[in-house]
Amino acid sequence: MKNTLIAPSVLAADFANLQRDIEMINNSEADWFHIDIMDGVFVPNISFGMPVLEAITKHTKKTVDVHLMIVDPDRYIKTFAALGANILSVHYEACPHLHRTIQGIKAEGMKAGVVLNPHTSVDLLEDVINDIDLVCIMSVNPGFGGQSFIENTYAKVEKLKAMILRKNASTIIEIDGGVTDKNAAQLVTAGADVLVAGNYVFRAENPTETIAHLKKISRF
Ligand code: DX5
Ligand code: ZN
Repeated sequence: MKNTLIAPSVLAADFANLQRDIEMINNSEADWFHIDIMDGVFVPNISFGMPVLEAITKHTKKTVDVHLMIVDPDRYIKTFAALGANILSVHYEACPHLHRTIQGIKAEGMKAGVVLNPHTSVDLLEDVINDIDLVCIMSVNPGFGGQSFIENTYAKVEKLKAMILRKNASTIIEIDGGVTDKNAAQLVTAGADVLVAGNYVFRAENPTETIAHLKKISRF
């Protein structure tokens, strides 16, 4: 049986009640905390920075999965390691020397992730897949929560899964953007290992039960 991991996206939390929302995730069936860092340059939005991340990691009991939507992420690898990131993911589109960036992340003791925008082909990872711990496929254009899921994602996941098997890599596949109970099972069937969910969890009447529901329908 496949244990699909669920990663609620803190971007959709209530920042005036952040500790309450963190405790909710801590006490739920969620596996990871997904944390979106946006710089207003790589994406047309600014989320939050180091002081907020520090406050979050202080209270988390789960794996901290940081998604950097910033230009020149190499500058901050050490900082994110010090702040408690367990997985650090950078965008393919923001890294001209991706191989070096991946090695830099691992050298700081973190797992290295690479994120692909919807228009970026998974084929571009062919020569580096064995070095990557996690590939995150964006199923919306990065920058905002609450957008609708791009259907082409299923085909990308299948193609990436086939590449991982062919290359005998141990890379896991994460999906980020517009994940709900409508697409979760099909994503897992296609090869997804981790599902990020922001609005679907935090806008629900009962977020804890919604996380449990997502976990249940993604486990088969
Ligand atoms: C979008 C972020 C996502 C976002 C997901 O740029 O990377 O992690 O928070 O939110 P939903 O699940 O609402 O699309
Ligand atoms: Zn994200």
